Amino acid sequence: MSKNVVLIGFMGVGKGTIAREIVKQSDIFAIDTDDLIESMENRKIKKIFKEEGEEYFRRLEAKTAKWLEKNVKNTLISTGGGFYKVDNLNKIGKVVYLKSSFKAIIDRIKSHPNAQNKLKKRPLLKDLNKAKKLYESRIKDYEKKADIIIDVENKTPEDIAKEIIKKAKIEKRKK
Ligand code: S3P
Repeated sequence: MSKNVVLIGFMGVGKGTIAREIVKQSDIFAIDTDDLIESMENRKIKKIFKEEGEEYFRRLEAKTAKWLEKNVKNTLISTGGGFYKVDNLNKIGKVVYLKSSFKAIIDRIKSHPNAQNKLKKRPLLKDLNKAKKLYESRIKDYEKKADIIIDVENKTPEDIAKEIIKKAKIEKRKK
């Protein structure tokens, strides 16, 4: 494998958790676009939204996408929920869409021991009615951009990771 694998999907679907599980089961290295942006800016996403607005954040995502396309290979890349909109997404790597209903996503976040923090750090999840509308406006496009669609509802992160490793042809960890 020389192509990257790019995980896309709505906020809270488990992109980070699943990326960490794939790392456990393989030798692939993983990075996250929100983490890259936070370290480049030296401030949290929430603060970037508050101080600069969403447009500014989207420009940072576009910049990150260009950098990834040019400089990164053999890597698992988890992304923020709106990252799929960058022009060059499919040039960065094989795109894997983690699919789930809105209800299952919210249930997943709420059942987390650190639920309050999960909700607080995501500015676009503050208002659940608005978040649902956003979800509905995006689901078709997530599917359109995906090379591989993985239904994640009612499955464990371990099983989802196994499925992605197989379908995206990531090399399993050698024992
Ligand atoms: C966003 C999702 C967030 C983060 C930002 C915007 C979105 O990432 O990039 O708050 O537009 O859906 P997660 O999907 O990791 O929550």
